[in-house]
Amino acid sequence: MSDNLHQLRCFGCGTRISGAEAAADFRCAQCGDLFEVEYPGWLERTGFDRPNPGALKWLWRERRCSSEALDHSGVWRFRELLPILENFGNAVTLREGNTPLYHLPRAARALGIDQLFAKHQGMNPTGSFKDTGMTAALSVARERGFEWVACASTGNTSAAMAAYAARAGMRSLVLIPEGKIAWGKLSQAMDYGAVTCQLQTDFDGCVRVLAEIVRSSPVYLLNSVNPYRLEGQKTPALEIAEAFDWNVPDHLIVPGGNLANSSALGKGFRELKELGLVARMPRISVIQAAGANPLVRSLAESFGASLEPVQANTRASAIQIGNPASWRKAVRVLQDTNGWCIDVTEAEIAIAKAELGQEGLGCEPASAVSLAGLKKLHARGNVASGDSVVLVLTGHTLKDADYTIDFHRGTLLTEEERAGAEDLVASLRRNALTVEASAAAVLAAVKGLCA
Ligand code: F0G
Repeated sequence: MSDNLHQLRCFGCGTRISGAEAAADFRCAQCGDLFEVEYPGWLERTGFDRPNPGALKWLWRERRCSSEALDHSGVWRFRELLPILENFGNAVTLREGNTPLYHLPRAARALGIDQLFAKHQGMNPTGSFKDTGMTAALSVARERGFEWVACASTGNTSAAMAAYAARAGMRSLVLIPEGKIAWGKLSQAMDYGAVTCQLQTDFDGCVRVLAEIVRSSPVYLLNSVNPYRLEGQKTPALEIAEAFDWNVPDHLIVPGGNLANSSALGKGFRELKELGLVARMPRISVIQAAGANPLVRSLAESFGASLEPVQANTRASAIQIGNPASWRKAVRVLQDTNGWCIDVTEAEIAIAKAELGQEGLGCEPASAVSLAGLKKLHARGNVASGDSVVLVLTGHTLKDADYTIDFHRGTLLTEEERAGAEDLVASLRRNALTVEASAAAVLAAVKGLCA
């Protein structure tokens, strides 16, 4: 018996195809839009394939005590909601997911929002949320017999893909924009044995080159245009709902780059609601860097009807993306949930990241946009003090240690960027001291700082 219950539906024109019929670039042959995974059996209210909410909640909890490898994955523990493989035994897992949901007491106090949490997706095996999507899509690639997988990346996708490919004994090809990704991520791709090509272009340029390669070579594309990626990336929604005892927070705040993650989390919550596992969806808001804000502009200029690519420029290199592939899906999530899409400046990102650091929660700059965005939404009155809020932190702090060190040394932000926030920035900086190797000198330095 096959575990596979899915088909693909074009997000633009609604054309339905089987998984095996998808083109190498995952674009619809009719209209060029992206596909979404759907499970036709779920639509029949009394059908055999429609999951039973009560039974699932019990089963997923039971699996936490299971000794089966698949049950140790925070993605495959929920496999009834992602029946995309012929055989779940083909799943390639590094025990992804099961990430912590931390309370943020300092930020909660500062904002007057008591119920403030961070879902730290940086606590995945390769240090970013990409692992949840990669276990899903790479497993499909392996099951379909591909030898090579490939992605264009701002760094985290490539790290995740390289790791899962290595695990599966497959070859991987990484295209990254030269000089525009953090060293931590580049080192991972190398370590996991990917063929890593640095191209003299930006992320959007890498995407264009890769699209040509997959059309002419037997390489399986693992960018987030691959709809199976989103099936894995929707599972943090399930974890959050489970942690809230099958309720949902009032707000979920997500960084936006290529816009797959916000789309995936929206899909996760939508399916939970449709299947009767939760009663409502959270309001999902997407935060972009001001220098890479094509979705913010699209909503302001055309209410999300069209998107004009921008030349992206931000130090939050993970989200330095000017032509996001999944923007239509993200617009639907914003519309379905009445969420907001706003942007934040370089200084706001750096400050939010340092504030999270003070909570003992490091993250990479692209993750900190969620706290920076929350502060803005709260100031605008979009988020009320009594609301419950979950921020999605997408990447681990060690991914981009250079950024952190530059901030604390005072070399990250220009004077212009710091303007108006000099005191706050100064109060958050904790530069390392160079001290003579004696106890007296160290104690004097400590005294000097505490004075
Ligand atoms: N945060 C981090 C740490 C990321 O690496 C990314 C995307 C995002 C947020 C944005 O997520 O693209 O789904 O909206 N990184 C991709 C990469 C593009 O290649 O690693 P998104």
